Amino acid sequence: MTEIEMNAFIRGLPKAELHVHVEGTLEPDMRLRLAERNGIELPYSSAKELAASYAYQDLSSFLALYFSGMDVLQTEQDFSDLTYAYLKRVHAQNVVYAEMHFDPQAHTSRGIAFDTVITGIRRAQEAAQQLGIRSQLILGILRDMSAESAMQALTDSLAYRDWIVGIGLDSDEKDNPPVKFRDVFQRARAEGYKLTMHCDHLQENSVQHIRQCLDIIGVDRIDHGYHVLDDEILIEDVRQRQVCLTFCTTATPSNPAPRRAAELKRALELGLNVTLNTDDPAYMRSYYMSEVLANTQQAAGLTREQVAQLARNAFRSAWIGQDEQDGYLAALEGCLSSH
Ligand code: HPA
Ligand code: ZN
Repeated sequence: MTEIEMNAFIRGLPKAELHVHVEGTLEPDMRLRLAERNGIELPYSSAKELAASYAYQDLSSFLALYFSGMDVLQTEQDFSDLTYAYLKRVHAQNVVYAEMHFDPQAHTSRGIAFDTVITGIRRAQEAAQQLGIRSQLILGILRDMSAESAMQALTDSLAYRDWIVGIGLDSDEKDNPPVKFRDVFQRARAEGYKLTMHCDHLQENSVQHIRQCLDIIGVDRIDHGYHVLDDEILIEDVRQRQVCLTFCTTATPSNPAPRRAAELKRALELGLNVTLNTDDPAYMRSYYMSEVLANTQQAAGLTREQVAQLARNAFRSAWIGQDEQDGYLAALEGCLSSH
C-alpha cells in the first residue's frame, strides 16, 4: 500500500475512541469565541497566538495549560458547543463511537454547577447522535484533589446515573496513587459504573500503580499504561485478562512525531488489548483520530492488519452491550473485506 492508499484506508475505517477529554478538545478558535461571548479577557488576540502559547514539557506543565483553558467554559451552551464541535469533527473522520472523559471538579471548583456541565455535554451528544456518532461519558476524577472531593463528585453524578457509563482518574499522578481512591472506586463499582484509571507515561512508581489498578481497584481498563511493557509479569497478567490499554500516541506541540509508536507496535505483537486514542487533541497539534492513526502507522511501520486490530480492539473494549458491539464489528469487517 502506498502512503496515500494507507491514509485513505485509515480514514475509511469505522473507528472508536476510548480516551479523549472533552476539555482537551478546546481548540484555540473556540476558546477565543467563548471568551468573547462570556466577556473574558484573554491575553491573546488571535487563534494563532493562542496556539503558540501551547508549549509544555511534561504532564504538570500540560495540566497547567489544560486547566487554565477551561476558564472560558461557563454556560451550558459553552459545554454543548465544545462537545458538539469535537463529535462533528471526528464523525467526519468516521469515528462512529466515542467514550469521553469530563472533569466536573475542575468546573464545580470554579462555581460552575455539575448540572450545567453535564446537561450541556449531554445536549451535544444527543444532537451528534443524529449525525451518526454515538458517545458515552466517563466521570473524570482529579487525583490531585482529595478523596472526599472525589466522593462528592461521584455522589453528584448519581442524579445523572443514566448519562454516565464509567469513572476514571486523571490529572497529576505524582504522589496520588490509585489506592488513594479505593473507596470512591469501590462505591462507583457498586453503583454499576465501569472503572478506568490513568497510569500516565514517565511517572514515578508506574509499575506499582498499574499493579494497584489491577489487584486492588479491579479496573476494567487502564488509560495510557505504557509501563506495562516494563515488567514481564505485568505483560502476562494484562494479556491473560485482556485488560484494555488506551495508548495515546499523540504528538506534542514541539514535536510532530507520535510518542511511543514503537511501544504500541510491541504491545500489538505481544497480543495485548491495546487501542489508539487522542487524549487532548486541541493541545496536541490538533491531531484527531485519523491523523494520529496515520502518523503512528507510519512511524511504527504498522501493517494493515495491525491497524485493523487497533480498530477491532477499540470496539471490543467499548462499554456497550454485545449487540451493539457486534454491529460495529460487523461493519468494520465489512469495510476490511471490501478493501
Ligand atoms: N493525563 C492526566 N490527566 C489528564 C490527561 C492525561 O492524559 N488529559 C487530561 N487530563
Ligand atoms: Zn487522558
